[in-house]
Amino acid sequence: MDKLKAYVIGATGLVGQRYVQLLAEHPWFELVGVAASERSAGKKYGEINWVLETPMPERAAELKIDKLDVDAVPKVDVVFSALPSEVAAKVEPELAKRGYLVVSNSSNMRLEPDVPLIIPEVNPDDLALIREQRARRGWSGAVLKKPNCSTTILDLPLKPILDEFGVSRIHVATMQAVTGAGYSGVPSVAIIDNLIPYIKGEEEKIVNESKKIFKRDLEIYATTTRVPVLDGHTEVVYVDTVKDFDVEAVVEAMAKFRGLPQELGLPTAPPQPVVPVAGVDRPQPRLDRMAGRGMSVVVGRVRRLGPKKLAFVALGHNTIRGAAGNAVLAAELLIKSDYY
Ligand SMILES: NC(=O)c1ccc[n+]([C@@H]2O[C@H](COP(=O)([O-])OP(=O)(O)OC[C@H]3O[C@@H](n4cnc5c(N)ncnc54)[C@H](OP(=O)(O)O)[C@@H]3O)[C@@H](O)[C@H]2O)c1
Repeated sequence: MDKLKAYVIGATGLVGQRYVQLLAEHPWFELVGVAASERSAGKKYGEINWVLETPMPERAAELKIDKLDVDAVPKVDVVFSALPSEVAAKVEPELAKRGYLVVSNSSNMRLEPDVPLIIPEVNPDDLALIREQRARRGWSGAVLKKPNCSTTILDLPLKPILDEFGVSRIHVATMQAVTGAGYSGVPSVAIIDNLIPYIKGEEEKIVNESKKIFKRDLEIYATTTRVPVLDGHTEVVYVDTVKDFDVEAVVEAMAKFRGLPQELGLPTAPPQPVVPVAGVDRPQPRLDRMAGRGMSVVVGRVRRLGPKKLAFVALGHNTIRGAAGNAVLAAELLIKSDYY
């Protein structure tokens, strides 16, 4: 098929760079343009401060950075958004009104009832909300959201537990990487040799977004912290299950869990979305964050603390599965669905 044209807004930031990296080698999409603030506009993309571990894709380096302007976005098939949410809140609905399909990382609109908030392996059916969104708002385009990074990394391993054993209560404490706060998010002086035991708004996002994704009033408690890790959020999770379990059965349920993206063979789908790892000292950010090319959540330390009391540690790449990778996978799913 002809490649679909993709445009990235917020392309110079940490999530924007991941989009550019993923789209450059994507079999379905062609990156035709990038936009950012007036601070970057007019430069070549090759002049930005590229921070990823692989070289900047050559074709991206040649693109001129547009100043973001809803009236000047070229005609493309998908707009991938990595804007700060206060900017996205103004820009994304305007683009959807003008007929663009916007696949977004930002937290605005995530909880609105007609906005799909998609982890492709967990709640693919929620793409149907696009039809309702268009009818209700009179848009020919649409806005599709991916959840908060920590929500995604928690909800992927929770899904097989919920399906097989039921869940009555969840406690989670996160240790989140500095890249989760954006390029200029956490000053080095604040985070080196340190831990910050609070991330504004993050605990509420985990709780409220998980309730929306699983469509139930889950009893869920979260504490979110920032740690001096570059990439990869680690989450310590305690789950009260409805049925009792043994550890082997939980590990097996996680290991064999697959979703629609795997069934459809979507290009960004990892073969195994949840990867249990052996060894009492795993998962670790440096060793495990690139599992499934950054799209798998790695789970270790699975323990039975008592009847119906499960504990485990989950780790996922915050800018890939937690951000741009999940968004690209959601776009692939949408393209294969009836709602595109
Ligand atoms: N980092 C993560 O792990 C992660 C995970 C999940 C979700 N998110 C969400 O994804 C979004 C992007 O995060 P990030 O970490 O990539 O942030 P970031 O590194 O701060 O990048 C922000 C991007 O937005 C652009 N921008 C800022 N103000 C703008 C304006 N007024 N008009 C046009 N463009 C503007 C910036 O362009 P300039 O370079 O020109 O300033 C830059 O390209 C945020 O909403 C964040 O909450 C992030």
